[in-house]
Amino acid sequence: MTRRAIVAANWKMNGNLTLVNDMVTGFSDISLAENVDVVICPSFPYLSEFSRAVEAKQLPSNVYLGSQNVSEQQSGAFTGEVSTSMLKEFSVSYVIVGHSERRSLYKETSTLVAHKVKAALEAGVTPILCIGESESERATEQTETVLASQLQPVIDEVGIEAFANLVVAYEPVWAIGTGKTASSEMAQETHQFIRQFLAQSNEEVAAKVPLLYGGSVNATNSEELFAQADIDGGLIGGASLKVEQFKAICLAA
Ligand code: G3P
Repeated sequence: MTRRAIVAANWKMNGNLTLVNDMVTGFSDISLAENVDVVICPSFPYLSEFSRAVEAKQLPSNVYLGSQNVSEQQSGAFTGEVSTSMLKEFSVSYVIVGHSERRSLYKETSTLVAHKVKAALEAGVTPILCIGESESERATEQTETVLASQLQPVIDEVGIEAFANLVVAYEPVWAIGTGKTASSEMAQETHQFIRQFLAQSNEEVAAKVPLLYGGSVNATNSEELFAQADIDGGLIGGASLKVEQFKAICLAA
């Protein structure tokens, strides 16, 4: 069966209005493969500028807007938080949830991540659920245990059937921002484990879930990674801040 291929840009706390305009210009005429979707996830302030471009149809219909974070709440006295319903007003279709930097720096637990996944699904926004092991967990052969411990709370919260409406991004923490990309063999082996783990709950749903790889993806290694049977695209950090490099990665999907 053919799954959608997704190439998502996680700008993290980088970028500016010039980059927003350069990205809109650079992607306005991109001709992506029929089954490829691109998602651009800038910091919150830039969503309004991107939203104007989406509404003005300056971007192809398969280039979507995403957010890097979201509250598990829909509204109320939660100072500093942003809800999925607010994001939808700015043409946001996807939201990154459970990124390793949110887990490590901001102490987000897998339980909180599961609640954020539920809030996004309830608002009709597609979660990009990030999971991944640390260098020491990989070195001590705990990878599969760690990934299972990050997936199971989400399955328990929203049910395996809901995975038909979300995306999973495997991002080995030791490959993020380090230039130490996982080999395509290691990435494929881990993606196969993730799909098999989900299949234990529902084979049909597991076969449909797009599994993205993230961690030092660039225009040189993306084609080999995306050619793997269980790698359905990528979640791109640093390389997504350069228009031509990110375009090359999207065209390789
Ligand atoms: O979410 C994507 C990010 O964690 C990967 O960053 O710079 O290694 O592509 P980078």
